[in-house]
Amino acid sequence: MHIDILSAVPDLLHSPLQHSILKRAQDKGLLSIGIHNIRDYAFNKHRNIDDEPYGGQAGMVLRPEPLAAAIRDLQSQRTYDDIIFLTPDGETLDQPLANHLSLRQNLLLIAGHYKGIDQRIRDKFVTREISIGDYVLSGGELPALVLVDAIGRLLPGVLNDERSALEDSFQDGLLDAPVYTRPAEWEGMQVPEALLGGHHARILQWREEQSREKTRTRRPDLWKKLGEE
Ligand code: ADE
Repeated sequence: MHIDILSAVPDLLHSPLQHSILKRAQDKGLLSIGIHNIRDYAFNKHRNIDDEPYGGQAGMVLRPEPLAAAIRDLQSQRTYDDIIFLTPDGETLDQPLANHLSLRQNLLLIAGHYKGIDQRIRDKFVTREISIGDYVLSGGELPALVLVDAIGRLLPGVLNDERSALEDSFQDGLLDAPVYTRPAEWEGMQVPEALLGGHHARILQWREEQSREKTRTRRPDLWKKLGEE
């Protein structure tokens, strides 16, 4: 899979992509990421990319010309399955959406800064608008990284233990059961008996019960979606 990210603050994006699972995905050739500076497509010598909004609200808006030039340049190099704008008024990212996007070949993410981007870019190029939650961040860079992480770890071969992505919280609509490691007793606290015996069916049953109870008490919204009482 290839993901291009367009940003006015590309320095924000580099480091988080160079560690841990996302680094491994790139090293293995399963994921490639291109980071592009919108300012490189500025239309005048002052390298202006933003301007005041018509109508007089506060904040600056990214102008359409540099963004359109950047998108068209990238489109001349590959065909995108989706052009995604990260914005608090988009559809909320969840696990089914991450699963869905992980099956794509090429994605272009647009991280707006300032007040937002000119609506005409959204109307003309953007095929999908995604929010990472009901709060406002100062730009789309962190949301773009969240999306890349959520997608990248799902690509086949990225995680060492293939099962672990499928067993995550949310994959079956339930929160994850608690996990323990050695020692079996620590500061007077015991690892639950059910996990110690190596009895596979019993372990599965314990995890299922814990998942269900955690979801019911912590996330009644998810519990309701499952059709539970
Ligand atoms: N840009 C600013 N806030 C955002 C959010 N919550 N999700 C996606 N993009 C954003």
